[in-house]
Formats: sequence, C-alpha cells, structure tokens
Amino acid sequence: RREAILDEYRELFNTPVLRLHALRDAVVEQMEAGLAGQPGGLMMLPSFVDVLPSGHERGDCYAIDLGGTNLRVAHVRLGEDRGSTEAMHIREWCVPPEHFDTDRGTLLRFVARCTAEVVREHCPGGGGLHSRPVIGFCFSFPVEQTALDNGKVLVWTKNFRGSYLLGQDVVAALRSELAAEGLPGAVVPAVMNDTVATLVALRYREPHTALGIILGTGTNCAYLEHVAAIGKLPAGFRPRTPSMVVNTEWADLASTHLPSCTEDLWVDCSSTHPGFGLFEKQVSGLYLGEVARRILLRLAEQVDLFGSAVPGLLARHNRLDTAHLAAVDEDDSPELSGVAAVLEEVLGVRGTSRQQRQTVQEVCQLVCLRSARLCAAAIAGVLKRIGHPGGNGTAGQDVPVPRVVVAVDGSVFAKYPKYRQRLGAALADVCGQVAAASIEMQLAQDGSVLGTAGQSSKGVRAKTLLG
Ligand code: BG6
Ligand code: GLC
Repeated sequence: RREAILDEYRELFNTPVLRLHALRDAVVEQMEAGLAGQPGGLMMLPSFVDVLPSGHERGDCYAIDLGGTNLRVAHVRLGEDRGSTEAMHIREWCVPPEHFDTDRGTLLRFVARCTAEVVREHCPGGGGLHSRPVIGFCFSFPVEQTALDNGKVLVWTKNFRGSYLLGQDVVAALRSELAAEGLPGAVVPAVMNDTVATLVALRYREPHTALGIILGTGTNCAYLEHVAAIGKLPAGFRPRTPSMVVNTEWADLASTHLPSCTEDLWVDCSSTHPGFGLFEKQVSGLYLGEVARRILLRLAEQVDLFGSAVPGLLARHNRLDTAHLAAVDEDDSPELSGVAAVLEEVLGVRGTSRQQRQTVQEVCQLVCLRSARLCAAAIAGVLKRIGHPGGNGTAGQDVPVPRVVVAVDGSVFAKYPKYRQRLGAALADVCGQVAAASIEMQLAQDGSVLGTAGQSSKGVRAKTLLG
C-alpha cells in the first residue's frame, strides 16, 4: 500500500514532457492575453524600464528591498566598470510578524524607520532635513505603474494580507513615511519588482540576459518585451527604446495541466490567499515544505509510515519548511543521518529505520522535482514568447541556437543545489538538449539591490536631463 501511494506521486510529480509542453503553451497564451489586457491573462505589468542602465552609472544611492521574509536596505556607491560597486553595505531585518497584516498600516513605517537608520549612518551630514538621498524601492508585489517612479499596489501576495495601500501609490506612501522619519527630501526615482531588478542587474555584465526569475518565498519572472506588443501601456506613452521589461506575475498561471493533488487543495485552503497563485503554490519556497508535510501526513495516517500513531507535530500546519525539505533531500550520507536529524528535531520522531528515512527523502525529492519541472515549463513558455528556439522543444543539431542568459535569485535557487540540478535536467527535457545547452541560468546575487540602485541612478539622471 505504501508503494501504491508513492507511485501516485512518482507519476504525477515527474510530470511527463507532453503535459509540460501543454503548460508551456498555456503560459504563452496567458502572457499574450495579459499583454492585450484581456481577461484570463497573467497580470503582465509594464515596468517602465525601457532604458536599461549601461552599468556605467555613477552615484551614491540607497536601495530598499522588501521581498519575501526580509527587509534589506543597502547603501550603494556604483563604480566605473559595468555593474561594479565601489562600496555596498547591506543591512537586513526579519520583517516582524505583525506587519504581515497590512491593515495595521505599519509596514511602510517599519520600512522607513530602518531606511532612515541606514541613511543616517551613511549620509554626509547624517541625512538631516537638507539632504536629498536617492532611494530606489524594490517592492516584490504586483504594482500597476504609469512611470518608473510610481505604482499602485494591486494585491498583497505571499504571506502579506489586508487592504492597506491597495489602489494607492506605494512610492507616495513611502515618501510620506520617510518624511515622518526625518527624511522629507528623499528622492525615490524607481519602484521595481524583484524580478525586474534581478534582470537589470545581471544585464550590466551579461548583455544576453533576457529573463529575470525569482525562486524564493514566491516565484515570478520578468522579461524583455517589444513595446509595440504591450497593448495596455497608457495612451500617449512615448517609449525611449523599442523594448521594455515586463513583470509577468507568473505565480497566477492557472491551467488544468498543473499536476495537482489533494495535498495542493489543503495547502491552498490553509494559505493566506486561497484560490490565488496556484502555480506558485506548487513551485515556490513558501509552500514546498508544507506540500511534503501533507503527503507525509497522508502516509502516516493511511499506511502507518511512522508506526501506529501519527506524530503530533506532523499534523501541525507549516511545521516543515523548505529549508528542512532541502536538508532532507541533500543528505547523501549512507544512513541518511541528516534525514533522521530533521525527523527528530522538527517532527519529534525518533528511532526511524533506514527505510522510513528513505521514504521521507523520496517524498521531499518528488516535491522538489515537480517544482523544478513546472518552472522549466514556464521558462520554456517565456522563451517561446520571445522567439527563442528553446520554446519549441524541437531545436535540432543543425539549427544554431542563440545563447540566452536567465538571471535568477531567491533562496530556493541559491541554497538548494539539487533544485538547480533538477531544473537543468527539466529544461533539457522540455526544451531539448541542444536548446537547453544555450540557456544559462546564472545566480544574480544581490541582484535586487544592484538593479534597483543602477536604475535609480539612471532615473535621477534622466529626470535631470529632461529638466
Ligand atoms: C533576494 C532578493 O535575494 O531574494 C529579493 O534581494 C527577493 O528581492 C528575494 O525578493 C527572494 O528570496 P526569498 O527566498 O527571500 O523570498
Ligand atoms: C510573488 C509576488 C511577485 C514577486 C514574487 C517573488 O509572486 O507577487 O511580485 O516577484 O513573489 O518575490
């Protein structure tokens, strides 16, 4: 019986290539609907990044990075060379749990307070009333922009909830909180999604960068699109170049081809935003541990995986997180002692047999495998949209395949080597060996900060030029 249950997941999570191709095509369709502003499409949010920084920007600025679980504030002095920094100091805070309920109205106050601390440390004159620090904002949630320096919050995602700032300009709100913290002269030239900033940052040194992806608490992708194809740009908008970075918000990909199981329903129902972000719930770090916990719970209840009693801690929501899942998966020791340690410390299960540990490890591996394969299908969809042969899945030996670089950041990609291996293998399956060899996934560490800083320096200069 145990094997029969595992077989269900082995089959579903090792998602067959045909199904991945169907998903890839669903991504393309939903991207196109979104670009045209039609219903049923992805959000496809124009970033107003239509001139990418050259990497030769100079300047002294700050970047706020409000992402999944942490707030980071950086002071960056951009250097002469492409994308180099003369100095970069980053401070990091764990976002206190009360701010996840945005209705308390305190989130941006907390952001502004931390930012003011950093500005005071680094600004000549201590960031007093007369200084005009330049502060870029990497804000990793869906926003609707009409320029680089504004953005209405559309919805809160990940574990943030409530209606604070919905429909309002997040930049204006940030400015007013900064003023309240003693920085009335702060200039905020850019608000950027983390995927957009990651793409921009790697592009400084890798001109073939065409996609920016986050695989962390959440997942998302931005890419370079032809301005002419973005039907939803405001009337009268005059682009400075023919292309613009678009934030897909691919978390919301909805398709009957998603390899869903009962555990996904549980994860969805108990999440902060039931019914939304179903692709993200099968792919990103906020959920992978919980999916694995649910499957282990089923095995414990139905086939006594841990003996006749179900371990109490295993029944607790979110008890297993993705760092635990990765630790279990990465354990290559002969007796799986790392798995035993996680079972003991996290779930309070002692004295497990090697076979039990192996089953636990296989469940974690399968959950990771599904995520990596879905991510590969989505990447193939974006490549198809931009006309890269990797999107066709059929590129042969005789056709030259142009190199394409994908900038990636986020804890799942950065801290989970087996995830990266499975993603590489999945890309070969979905895109074909030859095309996959031309797709380079590169970790863009600190990409959000660096991209936001570069674009902010550029934003300030463009404004100055225009008077
Ligand atoms: C960080 C980026 O490295 O990765 C953030 O600076 C991004 O902008 C984050 O949101 C995503 O990772 P995680 O795992 O913290 O959600
Ligand atoms: C969520 C957000 C998105 C962000 C992603 C990664 O999906 O909606 O804007 O890019 O997480 O942080």
